[in-house]
Amino acid sequence: MKSLAGNGVEGRFEWIGLLGVGDNIVVTNKRKLERIFSMKGGKGETSYAKNSQAQARHAQSVLHLLEGTLDRLQLVSPETPFVVADLGCSCGGNTIYIVDVIIKHISKRYEALGHEPPEFSAFFSDLPSNDFNTLFQLLPPLAIHGGSMEECLAADGHRSYFAAGVPGSFYRRLFPARSIDVFHSAFSLHWLSQVPESVTEKRSTAYNKGRVFIHGGNESSALAYKKQFQTDLAAFLRSRSLELKKGGSMFLVCLGRTSVDPTDQGGAGLLFGTHFQDAWNDLVQEGVVEGEKRDSFNIPVYAPSLQDFKEVVEADGSFSIDHLQVFRGGSPLVVEQPDDAAEVGRALANSCRSVCGVLVDAHIGDKLGEELFARLERRATNHAKDLLEKLQFFHIAASLSLDNS
Ligand SMILES: C[S@@+](CC[C@H](N)C(=O)[O-])C[C@H]1O[C@@H](n2cnc3c(N)ncnc32)[C@H](O)[C@@H]1O
Repeated sequence: MKSLAGNGVEGRFEWIGLLGVGDNIVVTNKRKLERIFSMKGGKGETSYAKNSQAQARHAQSVLHLLEGTLDRLQLVSPETPFVVADLGCSCGGNTIYIVDVIIKHISKRYEALGHEPPEFSAFFSDLPSNDFNTLFQLLPPLAIHGGSMEECLAADGHRSYFAAGVPGSFYRRLFPARSIDVFHSAFSLHWLSQVPESVTEKRSTAYNKGRVFIHGGNESSALAYKKQFQTDLAAFLRSRSLELKKGGSMFLVCLGRTSVDPTDQGGAGLLFGTHFQDAWNDLVQEGVVEGEKRDSFNIPVYAPSLQDFKEVVEADGSFSIDHLQVFRGGSPLVVEQPDDAAEVGRALANSCRSVCGVLVDAHIGDKLGEELFARLERRATNHAKDLLEKLQFFHIAASLSLDNS
């Protein structure tokens, strides 16, 4: 087992819950990552809640595919509650918006068949460190048929479903067998369960020396990431195939790439493999962070090709692929004034920090983390025009259904 470097608790990963930020955690072990990883919580400037407009836009562009998935779903008797689960929900408004879309669409389908819609239940699921408090505070008040007058009179924003949070990794079981009608997961499955150990082992050919991501790196490191992605996706599918009701469906969206070469990670590569990488190199060159410290940090993200994804679904064999495509999501940058280089720089640093700031802080501490993202902001400000033109994310969208046989 890898060490919690530098703090003398070799091999004691169960201590993680007691460690503070900046305790030099080398995140290669699956359990370690699961315990500390989350998007930046709260509602501050660098929080995920304030930096997820790009994901919201990209989700909008595939709403028609989500609706297609919901149309293929087999409806059961309206007497039975209809259950939706969003996996990797995080702590912003996107998950609430999507669950609302799903429930409204399914309600319409029941109404079109001349039925009253069933009662709905929605599970918001993410790793235990996710800021569920912020998410629950964002939930609109409950107003369901048969609820109190006050609830029913609630203004526009109300929800017509019972809500619950489910902590745990989606790479394992989360729900009882045959209990879920629809699974949704957006922008989450590209997060690996761990950095493959070989990537941080100095004697391994997959050692990712000098780099914090596989983009532009050596082929062995990229293949170790690919293998990890495929192992993880297989575990995800295995669990979901048990939890979905027969006739149920899943709609999955994650980062993807158009190149067959896994060392070319597309937009994610440009972000983590160049700009973010350069910011780490700045800290090393300035003597603020040791080279080895940088080398032991690796972003646990893999943008699969369509083929990488398809191979796993086909090998698992539980799901029919109703739709599978790679689509251009667009820029991860949402700015009000594209000519304002400082705003572009800030937006890039904040959005990067909102997704991987927690991992950076765990590795080098929050003070050095602050320094790193300041370097990233400066670099992004200097390359603002280029970033706006060239930084484009591609995603994979998959609509899968569980055979009714
Ligand atoms: C970029 S956020 C996506 C949030 C939201 N779905 C959206 O569309 O804005 C990715 C989420 O995936 C979650 N995640 C990553 N690995 C996970 C795992 N193994 N199990 C459950 N959630 C995970 C992260 O904690 C994070 O909240």
